[in-house]
Amino acid sequence: MTDPFVCPRCHGVLESAAGGTRCTACGNAYPVVGGVPCMLEDPSLWRALWKSRLDDYLAAIAQRLSALDAEANAPNLLEKTRKRIRHVHDAVASDRRAFVELFADLVPREAAGGPKLLPGADPRTGDTPVIEYSEHLFRDFVWGQSETESALGLVKRLASQPLGKTAVYGVGTGRLALDVQRELGAERTVGLDIHPLPLLVTSRLLRGEELELHEYPLAPHSSEATAVRHRLKAPFPKPENVAFAFADALRPPLAPGSLDTVITPWFVDAVAADIRETAAAVNVALRPGGVWLNYGPLRFQGELSRLYVIDEVHDIVSATAFELGTRFSEDVPYFHSPHSGTHRTDRVFGFAARKTGETPALPPPPLFAAWLSDTSLPIPVSRSFAGLQKTSILTVGILSMIDGRHSLADIATSLAQQWGVPPAVLMAELRPFLARLPFD
Ligand SMILES: C[S@@+](CC[C@H](N)C(=O)[O-])C[C@H]1O[C@@H](n2cnc3c(N)ncnc32)[C@H](O)[C@@H]1O
Repeated sequence: MTDPFVCPRCHGVLESAAGGTRCTACGNAYPVVGGVPCMLEDPSLWRALWKSRLDDYLAAIAQRLSALDAEANAPNLLEKTRKRIRHVHDAVASDRRAFVELFADLVPREAAGGPKLLPGADPRTGDTPVIEYSEHLFRDFVWGQSETESALGLVKRLASQPLGKTAVYGVGTGRLALDVQRELGAERTVGLDIHPLPLLVTSRLLRGEELELHEYPLAPHSSEATAVRHRLKAPFPKPENVAFAFADALRPPLAPGSLDTVITPWFVDAVAADIRETAAAVNVALRPGGVWLNYGPLRFQGELSRLYVIDEVHDIVSATAFELGTRFSEDVPYFHSPHSGTHRTDRVFGFAARKTGETPALPPPPLFAAWLSDTSLPIPVSRSFAGLQKTSILTVGILSMIDGRHSLADIATSLAQQWGVPPAVLMAELRPFLARLPFD
């Protein structure tokens, strides 16, 4: 298949360049990372962000491994309990090696091994976006055949015409794109996602490699099932005419009006955009008469005014120059791992919508603020930064007095004097503040 991508910034034509491509119009460069073209508007920022997330993950895992070590060595444990903890410990250590190896393709060479000046996320928060979608890998390449078949079945029910030039937004592991191309004979299928892990894995599997990773099911059935070792391999050879890219699907590296079909599986709830912005972006990418096939849940977190119910979504889609066709809602199994003791069922909404005209431009939110990419731009004042500044000043003041010698009363007296507030008022806030900090 000829390279389907254009420059996501200016839609210019790309030419080959060292390690990837370059736009012949604006000159922006797009590297290939782990065999996947990195078609984000600012690839180096995206890579640097994931490098820092990898650092956070490694810090969190180091803490987790020493906590597991300590637990396994505690006295008075059943031998079985000790063995189970060591089993999980070894699995986590093995996954750490696998993730570091996988991300080696992504970490910018200039950033690797350099001194780290700024703090990362607190490893105790457990916030590890690096492994956020790892369970999708087991569903899509190990035990989830009925769920992948059901996903393809939903697309079949929605599609009333040949798919033609197709894009899958938020493609995850890429499994649906592979199935759509193989089973529904699209002219070509492009899969776009901003998360590196699933596509880095899939890219290796499609090159014939196998990977060992562990699944950590909720409520496991047995000691062994606390960490289930899986050997991942491609379910079939890569079909012709499928291409994946790391890309913001709302600013896709595709010529406007060039797609016959856009599929958004479990995407509208996950993308950081209002459904109005998503609908407008899908409209721009489709040719007149092209179709948008959507299925998945609706957004359930955020401001109430943005948590649309399905009737509102239908109205928004119709108002964005689409004509609605097939629609359904039904409950589907969600990650029914055979190793887990708990299973979810989710209500998904499906619709097919045909583009009837061009919609007024509604630029989607950028993945990164302009001033993060163009470092000469002034950083705008934001209300949340002002709040953060205030909290940070207060927190630094308090933490700077915790040195193993001062009591709460000492801190309240000293800071109350500095800040010009009554010590009793400060004390009333200090105690709950410190009660929430982790002292370990
Ligand atoms: C809930 S997951 C669904 C994955 C896959 N479609 C599936 O059904 O298993 C949502 C996916 O959307 C991706 N995503 C979120 N925002 C995106 C964006 N702006 N562009 C491309 N992908 C995005 C996430 O990284 C994630 O892989």
